[in-house]
Amino acid sequence: MIYSRIAATGAYLPERVLTNAELEKLVDTTDEWIRTRTGIERRHIAAAGETTVDLAERAARRALDAAGVAPGEVDFIAFGTTTPDLIFPNCGVLLQERLGCYGVPAFSLETACSGFMYALSIADKYVRCGDAKRALVVGAETLSRITDWKDRATAVLFADGAGAVVLEPAAAPGVLSTHLHADGRHQELLYCGSGVSKGLSLSPAITMAGKEVFKIAVSKLGSVVDETLSANGLERGALDWLVPHQANIRIIQATATKLAMPMERVIVTVQDHGNTSAASVPLALDVGVRDGRIKRGDLLLLEAFGGGFTWGSALVRY
Ligand code: COA
Repeated sequence: MIYSRIAATGAYLPERVLTNAELEKLVDTTDEWIRTRTGIERRHIAAAGETTVDLAERAARRALDAAGVAPGEVDFIAFGTTTPDLIFPNCGVLLQERLGCYGVPAFSLETACSGFMYALSIADKYVRCGDAKRALVVGAETLSRITDWKDRATAVLFADGAGAVVLEPAAAPGVLSTHLHADGRHQELLYCGSGVSKGLSLSPAITMAGKEVFKIAVSKLGSVVDETLSANGLERGALDWLVPHQANIRIIQATATKLAMPMERVIVTVQDHGNTSAASVPLALDVGVRDGRIKRGDLLLLEAFGGGFTWGSALVRY
């Protein structure tokens, strides 16, 4: 039996940091409101001309370096993003060209904030069936390009960044299970209304009904963590770390409570990163691994929820 395991992680954040104090000058908001309602204190914003694939390449190279895998040895690329460089070629292929692993399958998928969970689930299955041996799983975004900087409801939330993991075959899991879901009935609550077939906008922007999204996110994340524990025969409290999607500290706290986990066992980066959508979980994972909190053998629950709605989780023995 072949399993997949995370060989290493990597991340990259753009240099420019945008603080709440600066946002106070752009929209009618306050640092106090943003911190108490969301937990966000600052976020990173890509420079003019810096693209999603630019961020992804740096994160990917860091993950490959930590795994001791040469970029040319990657044999599978799954890339979650909602802010691709181009309509096509897809971001997976653009990244493949940068890394020089020509010929291997490379694709991107757009499941908003759960993009990394979907990419991880697919890559895990390719490794487990023997078709991939050094799979690169990426989540990267430049959400600042689809943020309306005059809309206080969204401008304070979204940000840019990239995270990546290298998956390799292993005799023991690794990735124990993944759980993916979608429900298109609520698409009007969170969307970006620009597209090729429906018509392109010159200034595409995220539209969100925050309160409604909040309630559904808490409920769906609550069910998916239950589903994950039950699929693995685990009790609440069995996990070493929760590595959640970083959208809002109050959503994270609700999921931690559901899991009976103290906040000391939760990797929280929302204060520094804001909501980086598909990049959020691999960014948080990389922070936890590199600062030494997450250790080899630890049991992790990764989860995310996003526009669509889409949501998902993974139980991982690191
Ligand atoms: N600054 C100051 N005030 C703001 C504000 C801002 N940036 N945005 C909204 N407000 C105001 C509202 O107008 C409202 O004022 P009112 O009471 O006079 O009508 C008040 O603050 C409360 O707004 P509300 O929307 O009820 O706040 P909330 O507690 O629900 O928090 C969010 C808003 C967006 C932070 C929260 O709903 C949220 O995080 N939702 C989920 C978002 C998310 O995770 N999206 C991505 C999913 S991956």
